[in-house]
Amino acid sequence: MGIEVVEEGDLIARFPEAAFAIAIGNNRVRKQISERLDLPWATIMHPSVIVEPGAAIGEGTVVLAGAIVQPDAIIGRHVILNTGCSVDHDARVGDFSHVAPRAALAGGVILGEGVLFGCGACTTPYIEVGDWASIGAGAAVVDKIAMGTTAVGVPARPLERYNGR
Ligand SMILES: CC(C)(COP(=O)(O)OP(=O)(O)OC[C@H]1O[C@@H](n2cnc3c(N)ncnc32)[C@H](O)[C@@H]1OP(=O)(O)O)[C@@H](O)C(=O)NCCC(=O)NCCS
Repeated sequence: MGIEVVEEGDLIARFPEAAFAIAIGNNRVRKQISERLDLPWATIMHPSVIVEPGAAIGEGTVVLAGAIVQPDAIIGRHVILNTGCSVDHDARVGDFSHVAPRAALAGGVILGEGVLFGCGACTTPYIEVGDWASIGAGAAVVDKIAMGTTAVGVPARPLERYNGR
């Protein structure tokens, strides 16, 4: 298809003015690659994205069309803020997390590192989601979610408890 493949070690020499982002959805793989490559990282935002005053977005992060980042929200490094998601005031999104399309994080929410926050899922304010947790599509997170937990449903519950109901 005429797409050139460039070896990792040649990237800087070939594109000395460039900054880079890792276009891989898997949060752990994105982390591994970012740790392996010593590159200047870009922060890439679709022109329709709204970032309100006081908000900050880390390097390597990609923000897709229609996303909204409200005042004083802090977005980490190598995050994906996917299409039409919203991150409300004072929320924190940890490095390597992915906030999926149409998901909504309420004010003051804290997502840890590497969280997958599924399509259309939402939270109540000031909820914490631990590192490497996965929140199912359509879930409503109303209590703290522990590290590494997969939680689904309304209200969101760990998958094993949800299935047991
Ligand atoms: C929650 C999730 C991570 C679980 O994935 P998984 O561990 O592979 O789970 P499985 O697909 O094996 O499903 C296990 C059970 O949970 C149920 N389940 C899966 N996702 C669910 C969800 N979002 N809400 C409710 N139940 C769900 C399944 O029906 C299944 O139930 P069963 O055991 O009674 O058949 C995944 O289903 C999900 O929702 N991921 C979000 C994806 C997303 O939004 N990506 C963004 C792409 S841009």
